[in-house]
Amino acid sequence: MTTVCVVGSGGREHALATVLARSADVIVAPGNGGTHGRSSEGHSITCSPLAPAEIEADLYVIGPEAPLVDGLADQLRASGRRVVGPGAAAARLEGSKAFMKEIAGKAGVPTATWASFGATELAAAIEHLRSVPPPYVIKTDGLAAGKGVFITEELRLAEADVGAKLKGESFGRAGQRVVIEEALVGPELSLLVLCDGKRAVPLAPAQDFKRLGDGDTGPNTGGMGAYSPVPFAGSGLVGRVLDEIVEPTLAKLASDGIEYRGVLYAGLIVTDEGPKLIEFNIRLGDPEAQAVLPRLDGDLTEMLMGVAEGAMWVEPRFVADAAVCVVCAAPGYPERPRTGEVIGGLAEAATVAGVTVFHAGTSRDDKGVVRSAGGRVLGVTALAPTLQEARTRAYEAVEKIGLEGMNYRRDIALAAAEVEP
Ligand code: AMP
Ligand code: GLY
Repeated sequence: MTTVCVVGSGGREHALATVLARSADVIVAPGNGGTHGRSSEGHSITCSPLAPAEIEADLYVIGPEAPLVDGLADQLRASGRRVVGPGAAAARLEGSKAFMKEIAGKAGVPTATWASFGATELAAAIEHLRSVPPPYVIKTDGLAAGKGVFITEELRLAEADVGAKLKGESFGRAGQRVVIEEALVGPELSLLVLCDGKRAVPLAPAQDFKRLGDGDTGPNTGGMGAYSPVPFAGSGLVGRVLDEIVEPTLAKLASDGIEYRGVLYAGLIVTDEGPKLIEFNIRLGDPEAQAVLPRLDGDLTEMLMGVAEGAMWVEPRFVADAAVCVVCAAPGYPERPRTGEVIGGLAEAATVAGVTVFHAGTSRDDKGVVRSAGGRVLGVTALAPTLQEARTRAYEAVEKIGLEGMNYRRDIALAAAEVEP
């Protein structure tokens, strides 16, 4: 019997645990209000408050970026464990936007033109802003849970944002270096790629919805929903992303002596000239994982075991069914999410055909009462033969959930469903 330890507590980790539990017992550290129970194949999912190194498992899958940037994968590997997730040296691809841009530049990867400024360079940053055309794209160098990007047409607002970031007012240390980059135009695409140190094999493409409101309005969030497959992302486009973006980056890292074993997430904008990189993440996307993993047709445990061992032997294959994931967010998210509210209707939502309710920011007490405990509370995923039908199912389930003041987008996969073949 194989035991897998999944590190993290979000919706991505609940999706990982659910799909891994088709073939393994799963311990989620620390987990959330949904990561417990038994799969229909008879495998257990349990939560553990212990540090991952204290947990006995055959495989460790590290979900979020922060522990990877802090070197958890290195620490676990040093004690002989099998790990999915890059070491700290490669994790800088996400931990520092400036590092990512430097690697992309050296590897010849197509990406937005950019400039980077530190805390003492406010005047130079302002001068730079005044010399480039709008819209202005300003990013924190360090980790900011997807919220560090500000895009505006107005120079005045751009200057204020750069000032607040460099002075450490808006994002603390993570913002005391900024990257200012060219605004790219085109649809976004997330491609998650399994890398075993030798080969890079893509999972099914997905699209994420970063803004809080319908029609891509409001502030950036960690992601308000996702769907897969993506009608415009066929094998030709995926091949270009691998050839032009993923492979050159891995080769550059390898030439610097850095091996990558884990998931590399290429965040892309598909421009008229082709796919361009806007960010690398060093892990599965959240909520992309909640749309991609349920479509997997095969044994995720074996697949990830191969990644960790440096010799992937199971190729990812996906069912033809589409998946749509709608995120239910707490009132006040992303600025000040209100937590501690009882969540009703979870069982009713799960009775809708094809639906799985993934927990993210939830907790569960001894009596089994589930409460909100974070900004993104649930990810409701529906599988169906078409995106249109998956949307209908997902929204039918979302409407059964009782969480006062909850926010969700009504337009997840809407445009794609209109053009799907
Ligand atoms: P990031 O954290 O880099 O993924 O950026 C968050 C979101 O901001 C992305 O999903 C895009 O919607 C948007 N964005 C980031 N960089 C650019 C860019 N160079 N041009 C246009 N939009 C961007
Ligand atoms: N959904 C965006 C991310 O995982 O970073």
